Amino acid sequence: MKTLLFGIGFTLSAVVLVSMSQARVTGECVNCHTMHNSQAGQAMATYGTSSPEGADTDPKVDLLRGTCFGCHAQMTGEAIVTIGSSKIPQVFHNFGQPGADDLAGGNFAYITGYKGSGASDARGHNIVQLNRPDDTLSTPPGDQHATGITNFNLTCAGKYGCHGDRTVDGDYGAINGAHHANDSMVDGETGGASFRFLNGVKGVENNGPAYPWQDYNQNHHNEYKGSTSPGISGPTSPAGNTISGLCAECHGYYHGISQDETGEYGHTPWRRHPTDVVLEGTTHSGTKTLGEYVFYQTYDVVAPVARPEDNYTGLPDEVRPGTDIVMCLSCHGAHATNYFKLMRWDYRGWPGDGVNGCAVCHTSKD
Ligand code: HEC
Ligand code: HEC
Ligand code: HEC
Ligand code: HEC
Ligand code: HEC
Repeated sequence: MKTLLFGIGFTLSAVVLVSMSQARVTGECVNCHTMHNSQAGQAMATYGTSSPEGADTDPKVDLLRGTCFGCHAQMTGEAIVTIGSSKIPQVFHNFGQPGADDLAGGNFAYITGYKGSGASDARGHNIVQLNRPDDTLSTPPGDQHATGITNFNLTCAGKYGCHGDRTVDGDYGAINGAHHANDSMVDGETGGASFRFLNGVKGVENNGPAYPWQDYNQNHHNEYKGSTSPGISGPTSPAGNTISGLCAECHGYYHGISQDETGEYGHTPWRRHPTDVVLEGTTHSGTKTLGEYVFYQTYDVVAPVARPEDNYTGLPDEVRPGTDIVMCLSCHGAHATNYFKLMRWDYRGWPGDGVNGCAVCHTSKD
């Protein structure tokens, strides 16, 4: 009996351990790390190029065999590539239908031209790895904190990027330790335990075995933390631990209740489309009304909402007018999308393909 109980206990803890560590890298060290960057005179870089010394884009900083882009942008026909037993989410790929088969972050390939969509700088964030600086925008619009970021230095992580510790200059230094961290509880306390290594951001990562990093399904999507009183983002800390707060580290004037370039806040009628407000309208006499949004009850990945809870455990396909919150990602993608200004649908070209994300929320205007 004792052995049986021990056996059951052991099996249970093994199951717990497996599910707890599912978002960490696994497999042989040699799959991803080199020790001297040479074995019998062979160069050991496998994923992306490796220059002999020093630069931030040099993977050897962590004795790595690949760069961020080398591992995450293999441009194969897969949205998820496997190294040994580790799955690597792809952010630049040649897979499936635009939108429908991308992972939640989107696909940088829309910027360089993807499946007949044509190339366009306005479809997303032109990171240096694309070798294609944005021709129109040279700084982040609404750059409240004077980030020093330009169309020539925007990168994946660190001071000039989005992931990891934004006080650290350099991709690898900024992300150090995150890939091996236990992120079973996304609490924003460390880089590894932040939503997708976006330091300080909270949310619930969709890491389900069938759809890891996937978003485009009302039942399999990430949950984003929202806040109706986030305050103002610092240069490197996201207000309210929200994803909109992260965007505001670089686009500060676009955030919250529509702060403008003079630092003044707008009120209803709004001066900029609000974020961090609940889906309940305010009439012009200031009275709250649900009418405008009341029929948005089934989560639509075209225009997702954030949740006030740190770790939302409710039904994924449910929207709660009066509770759930507008965020930057209600309308925008993160890396790049198929549409003008990184929108989640063709706002500019509407009725184009017939999808109107505005009406997903503004149900009374549909
Ligand atoms: C699937 C790829 C992969 C595998 C397998 C892997 N690593 Fe890593 N490791 C990384 C990446 C990517 C980084 C750099 C980014 C980071 O630190 O998050 C890293 C960073 C590290 C670091 C420095 C940061 C820290 O956590 O202290 C150490 C040490 C390390 N790995 C050791 C190992 C050892 C030992 C093994 C084998 C038991 C191993 N790694 C297997 C991908 C991998
Ligand atoms: C050697 C290959 C390799 C390199 C180099 C690498 N990664 Fe990863 N990355 C992985 C693997 C494998 C995973 C999936 C396991 C995980 O979630 O930690 C991953 C996951 C991630 C995730 C998603 C984390 C999550 O919560 O799901 C982010 C973000 C990320 N990497 C960013 C980066 C950045 C930025 C760099 C460069 C500084 C980088 N990676 C370099 C292999 C790599
Ligand atoms: C680390 C700084 C940084 C962060 C964080 C950031 N951006 Fe940007 N963003 C930029 C820069 C730089 C540009 C201009 C260069 C470009 O578009 O490639 C830009 C441009 C944009 C554009 C216009 C795209 C175009 O090419 O016309 C949109 C839309 C946008 N960002 C939305 C967002 C959203 C939404 C978030 C949060 C998920 C976010 N940004 C987070 C730096 C940032
Ligand atoms: C995620 C849900 C959501 C989406 C998507 C959305 N809105 Fe809104 N919108 C709101 C909320 C909530 C308010 C604030 C209402 C209030 O409290 O006054 C608002 C406010 C507005 C206002 C200001 C109304 C006023 O009283 O000043 C306009 C105009 C507007 N939205 C237009 C749009 C357009 C156009 C789109 C598509 C590009 C869009 N919205 C997409 C939820 C949304
Ligand atoms: C209701 C939908 C909606 C929300 C919410 C929203 N945006 Fe936008 N955003 C747009 C649209 C549409 C455009 C295209 C330009 C326009 O019509 O004003 C745009 C344009 C932009 C641009 C490009 C401006 C330029 O000059 O090229 C940036 C940067 C941007 N948004 C960032 C953000 C950030 C950061 C947030 C959250 C704080 C946010 N947006 C929230 C709809 C939205």
